[in-house]
Amino acid sequence: MTGSPNGSMQTFLSEFQKDLAQGLLSPRVWNDPDLHQAELERIFTRCWVFVGHVSEIPTPGDYVLRYIGEDQFIMVRDEQGEIQLLFNSCMHRGSPVCRAEKGNASHFRCPYHGWIYKNSGDWNGAPQRARAYRKLDAAAWGLRKAPHVDTYQGLIFACLDPEAVSLREYLGDACWYLDVLFGLSEQGTSVAGDPHRWIVPSNWKSGADNFVGDAYHVQSLHQSLLEIDVLKGLGQDNSGGSFHIAVEGGHGFIGGRRSLPEPWGIMDYPPEVFSTFDLDRLDPSQRKFLEDGYGMFGFTIFPNLSFFQSLPNSDPNEPPRVFTLLRQWQPKGPEKFELWNWSVQWNSAPDEYNQAAYTAGVGAFGPSGIFEQDDTVAWAGGPPTGRSVFARQTMKLNYQMGMDGMGDYAIRTDWMGPGEVSTSPYGDMNQRRWWQRWSDQLMS
Ligand code: FES
Ligand SMILES: [Fe+2]
Repeated sequence: MTGSPNGSMQTFLSEFQKDLAQGLLSPRVWNDPDLHQAELERIFTRCWVFVGHVSEIPTPGDYVLRYIGEDQFIMVRDEQGEIQLLFNSCMHRGSPVCRAEKGNASHFRCPYHGWIYKNSGDWNGAPQRARAYRKLDAAAWGLRKAPHVDTYQGLIFACLDPEAVSLREYLGDACWYLDVLFGLSEQGTSVAGDPHRWIVPSNWKSGADNFVGDAYHVQSLHQSLLEIDVLKGLGQDNSGGSFHIAVEGGHGFIGGRRSLPEPWGIMDYPPEVFSTFDLDRLDPSQRKFLEDGYGMFGFTIFPNLSFFQSLPNSDPNEPPRVFTLLRQWQPKGPEKFELWNWSVQWNSAPDEYNQAAYTAGVGAFGPSGIFEQDDTVAWAGGPPTGRSVFARQTMKLNYQMGMDGMGDYAIRTDWMGPGEVSTSPYGDMNQRRWWQRWSDQLMS
């Protein structure tokens, strides 16, 4: 691990935090190569980072390639059933030992000189071993691997910092909301196939910043969807009754009111789906959240995992369907990221419903999704602004919405769950807290 940030970085970050306290943000964050390097060193090698869903590797030997920051790992279930995150780089000359995106293998054999590793990462042999490596200490030459891998509600996270807190502690109060979203059925959830992925000409933080709390953009950026009735049921202010939930650690949720009449039930699921849920799995306050008609439209778990659950009506010509997406913003340099998008479904729900929800989700978000096209074009504005000398000299971006006296945004005092919860969507509380965590993490 590298030491503390250098002087000019430290000065920038202290200045950044002073600005943030006033709701201001330097455009430098959208393109800066030094900040990008610092993120790789201080965020992606220290935080718990989402790497996939348990349903992607159900049996021993199953593997998929995954990323933490810009490093490629093999996420594999070993012969003991444990999930391993193996750095995909041979200990001999650094060649990738696994070239396929997914598959099933008991061993990985490096194509360069033929060193072999078990799917636990242990070194398992080399050609001509007796003549070439008779004295090699096999125990020392296994693939490097993430020291911590753990799961919560089917989501797999890994952490490269040996000293890290547990995943449960890292997620903290976010767990209360993850239980509500993913813990309703003993049969759990699975992802529908591989994630869609594509390149976006923007900085990865744009996605995290949007999904942690930006309900405000829907009425303008997605206005064409309002015009063609895709966003029916959002109510008079086009917000869907949304509000913010901020928990410790920079994690934030966009809560919302569910609005469909009976027979639709909790979180706007139809009877054939919600009848498969067992609400006794939740504690009374979590049940109250659902029974009072609340749900969640989005979240970001710091740093780069987000979530979206469908608005009341995603296709005017079809019955409403709740689709659920996990989205990840994978950095690829300071001015580019790869967007990964998984569709999540309930194992207990009828196949027909899951298929229809999948189709609705792909139509909204994905390489050709009607929401996605709006969002990613807007986010592409970040890097050119960040790299502009003029912008750096004259601009600070506005994150003041909902600050004291700015509007009618307030914190609720009567909330059944953890975190700070707002009375309206017209605030940047979640975004400011995400950026506070970002800067704290870079300064640590
Ligand atoms: S680089 Fe892998 S065996 Fe030589
Ligand atoms: Fe959007």
